[in-house]
Amino acid sequence: MDLKINLLQLKERGVVAEMKQDIVHISGLANCMNGQLVQISDAAEGVIVGFDQEYALVLLVEQHGTVKPGDQATSLIKSFSIPVGDGFIGRRVDALAAPLDGRGPINATRQYPIFGKAPSVLERRQLTEVLPMGVKILDMMIPIGKGQRELIIGDRMTGKTTVATDAILMQKHTGTICVYCCIGKAEASLGKVIELFDTNDVWKYGIIVAATASDSMGKQYLAPYVATSIGEYFMYEKGMDVLVVFDDLTKHAWTYRQMSLLLERSPGRDAYPGDIFYLHSQLVERAGRLSITRGGGSMTHLPIIETLQGDVTGYIPSNTISMTDGQVYMNTTLFGEGFKPAIDVKLSVSRIGSKVQWRAMKTLAGMMRLEYLNFLQLLKLTRVKAGVSAEVEGRLRRGKVVAELLKQPNNAPVPMEEQVVTLYAFREGFFDDVQPENVQARLETLLSSMRRGRPELMAELVRQKDLTEEIKEGLKHEFARLRNSAV
Ligand SMILES: Nc1ncnc2c1ncn2[C@@H]1O[C@H](COP(=O)(O)OP(=O)(O)O)[C@@H](O)[C@H]1O
Ligand SMILES: [Mg+2]
Repeated sequence: MDLKINLLQLKERGVVAEMKQDIVHISGLANCMNGQLVQISDAAEGVIVGFDQEYALVLLVEQHGTVKPGDQATSLIKSFSIPVGDGFIGRRVDALAAPLDGRGPINATRQYPIFGKAPSVLERRQLTEVLPMGVKILDMMIPIGKGQRELIIGDRMTGKTTVATDAILMQKHTGTICVYCCIGKAEASLGKVIELFDTNDVWKYGIIVAATASDSMGKQYLAPYVATSIGEYFMYEKGMDVLVVFDDLTKHAWTYRQMSLLLERSPGRDAYPGDIFYLHSQLVERAGRLSITRGGGSMTHLPIIETLQGDVTGYIPSNTISMTDGQVYMNTTLFGEGFKPAIDVKLSVSRIGSKVQWRAMKTLAGMMRLEYLNFLQLLKLTRVKAGVSAEVEGRLRRGKVVAELLKQPNNAPVPMEEQVVTLYAFREGFFDDVQPENVQARLETLLSSMRRGRPELMAELVRQKDLTEEIKEGLKHEFARLRNSAV
């Protein structure tokens, strides 16, 4: 006899025993495992999040009717998967990868498990390529490599989301697929990101996975995994570069805490269950850069964490800091003073760092960082001491010029080559005779003149990623010309 067992078709039946808000206790599922999808009569779908002696504990994700004790439950003996495919580009979906944008069904070509495994060491290769962020302070001083995990951390209203969405806008011409994952935010905040996607044509390469505050706990819990799975398809199957933003993991941790209280797990520090660390580290482990034999794709993660009064020592902030490759620290005071993006250069790091930078950037940005840090130091000293010498006055003025050069408006990422020109112009003294308040206008004059008048020089800089003698000559010539014409 020819006996064939298709594991994917194996089903198991159980019965709903009791319910506690979104957690359903189901008896009779003897072979199931964590992360499996369970169908409860026609009323709901849920995911197995734990067990006790008698029951499988199921978190409801989608509810169409009322779940009551005695209901039949069916579980497929396979891990919870979602459809993935090229058809997701340009779409907004929920935490089960179902469309939310009313634009019809999504053509999916594959199924990916939502709790997928991270690539193994052998499947990975070194991070040697920069992922341009378009945020000057980051690209210059805290560069991020393709496949890196960089945390964006700060209080509310400090520009965290903006830094992440600027990075997304920057990918317009890089071929990087961008997934923005909204977790537990108000509809209005999500609406702003959707609008940004609309007005900037991001849908050509962007995807939104959204579970807002009004969605079920289950959906908020699943959203970051689903976003990662959708991204994994492009990394594994297409060899593409992918950027995933989680906005934000603080809300995700809250959801998990609430879930765990219902599951009666013993709370640990700050009432979070101990395995929250495992939960988040498992998620960000799925980022990385694949070896050439695995197709060479990459997935970069930008998780966002919201702090209270700048406190990064809390349980969730310190956890996420320790499991990422660096953090971008956003500072309320800087934001208030108008230094935007309000990135605290002193506290921010990227552990992959300058290894991945353009050569031109590496040589020039170090000096900029030093100048800026010296300026901050000087500012601190002169604040307590009235009346400064002319020499100190001069240094303060120069520092203010640096600060002006580092500022940039939101939704206007700056191409890498323009950043290099900015740095080189500063080093060549182009801004020496400019008052700090006029620096930005002067910079714009320079950059637009380069864009319009010397596109071939800019293209050459992109090609070389370095300041060759020829490019230097070309740039100096432009600096001189503009200086002479501006009387
Ligand atoms: N570089 C910037 N220049 C001007 N305004 C900015 C800049 N970055 C952020 N903002 C504005 O500040 C507000 C808060 O930014 P947001 O990114 O939503 O902060 P967070 O995500 O930290 O709460 C928004 O209205 C945003 O438009
Ligand atoms: Mg935000």
